[in-house]
Amino acid sequence: MKILVLNGSPRPNGNTAKMVEAFKEGAAVGGNDVNVIDVCRKNIKGCLACEYCHSKGKGQCVQKDDIQEVYDLLKETEMLVIASPIYYHGISGQLKCTIDRFYAAAYPIKPAHLKKTAMLLCSGDKDQYAGAKFSYEGDFLGYLGLEDMGVITVSGSVTQEKLDAARALGASL
Ligand SMILES: Cc1cc2nc3c(=O)[nH]c(=O)nc-3n(C[C@H](O)[C@H](O)[C@H](O)COP(=O)(O)O)c2cc1C
Repeated sequence: MKILVLNGSPRPNGNTAKMVEAFKEGAAVGGNDVNVIDVCRKNIKGCLACEYCHSKGKGQCVQKDDIQEVYDLLKETEMLVIASPIYYHGISGQLKCTIDRFYAAAYPIKPAHLKKTAMLLCSGDKDQYAGAKFSYEGDFLGYLGLEDMGVITVSGSVTQEKLDAARALGASL
């Protein structure tokens, strides 16, 4: 299965990056093809709501920034993994900009092969996930109709138990 992980953490060795790596290791065991995009290392601007993509652009976004890399991968992606630190009770701003840009690629018609999704969330405190889960459930399960393969949350520093859970999720696919 072709899997795209969007990592919304700017910290290369942070909790989210470690969870993504564990997930990737697990998924590789089953022969899955995993691409990770660190959206904070990319130049991905927010959606302009100009509707170019739904008019003259015929699905192309008017902004020619690094989102094109995401669009190219989305065409083949079968499973999307949203990985983020919790910032002010939601996902990071860089990841939110990336997801808003799905407007050109996944609205009104979703990418042809996209069927499954999962989420990895890391926060400082406990029980901080309602905002991120609301978006996940509304946008990816509800609107795009993807199958929920699981949400793993980490509060505080990542533990071996959480890394094992991420690896097991990857290996279960
Ligand atoms: C801008 C910012 C906002 C944050 N907001 C929250 C928050 O609302 N709730 C929370 O529990 N932790 C919050 N945190 C803490 C991070 O979610 C936490 O440190 C997380 O483990 C960071 O993930 P990372 O190591 O992958 O970067 C915030 C951190 C930053 C930098």
